[in-house]
Amino acid sequence: NSHIPVITIDGPTASGKGTVAHKVAERLGFHVLDSGALYRLTALAALRRGTELSDEHALAKIAERLPAKFVGGEIFLGTENVGHALRAEEVGNAASKIAALPAVRQALYGLQLAFREAPGLVADGRDMGTVIFPGAKLKIFLTASVAARAERRYKQLIGKGFPANMEGLLADLHSRDERDMNRAVAPLKPAEGAHILDTSDMTADQAVEAVLEWYRHA
Ligand code: CDP
Ligand code: CDP
Repeated sequence: NSHIPVITIDGPTASGKGTVAHKVAERLGFHVLDSGALYRLTALAALRRGTELSDEHALAKIAERLPAKFVGGEIFLGTENVGHALRAEEVGNAASKIAALPAVRQALYGLQLAFREAPGLVADGRDMGTVIFPGAKLKIFLTASVAARAERRYKQLIGKGFPANMEGLLADLHSRDERDMNRAVAPLKPAEGAHILDTSDMTADQAVEAVLEWYRHA
């Protein structure tokens, strides 16, 4: 399936990857891979079982056997719809911790490749362009200032009924950026050939148009 076009969208937390990926996919009629959800699902399952977030072997087993299903924008763990539970900051932070473990990343590798289906795929995460789909037709590194990203995450959490305070969010954002950029395996960085898109002063729709314009010329 290496001929099927892939657009990768990598970037730091709350830069708008998920939002832009879904809108671009909708416009092109492509599939979506929310790779962060796989790390979040593994983290959620581990938190519920009380697995130590440093127990690489046990976490890789959980990732390998993840009973995850993606059904029209909803995410299921077994029969439970966990779309909402996955968005909690606690789960995002735990996901970022376990994502630094090589065996966990290895366990999720094949699962991610399987999302490449005709007519095309938009994949968002941290290492879509660098590790998972290095041959992607178009690679985007989506970013925004820390202030813009904290503001977006704040509004998003409040809108979904989660508690949020700006100070805590800023602290989370910094520690997550730090961890994601400085880990030994698949650190967050622009892929070779990636277009860098700073959306600090852009709406999500403007970012979508920019990506589609690059895709037309890719
Ligand atoms: O996936 P990622 O964590 O990068 O971001 P997201 O979950 O898509 O969340 C970004 C939030 O900021 C959403 O509520 C978007 O509506 C909003 N937003 C955006 O995505 N892009 C902009 N240029 C401006 C706002
Ligand atoms: O929405 P947000 O950007 O905050 O997070 P996410 O994309 O759902 O990812 C949660 C965590 O999973 C990130 O902080 C990363 O540590 C990890 N992750 C990763 O390592 N590689 C990916 N391709 C996607 C996510």
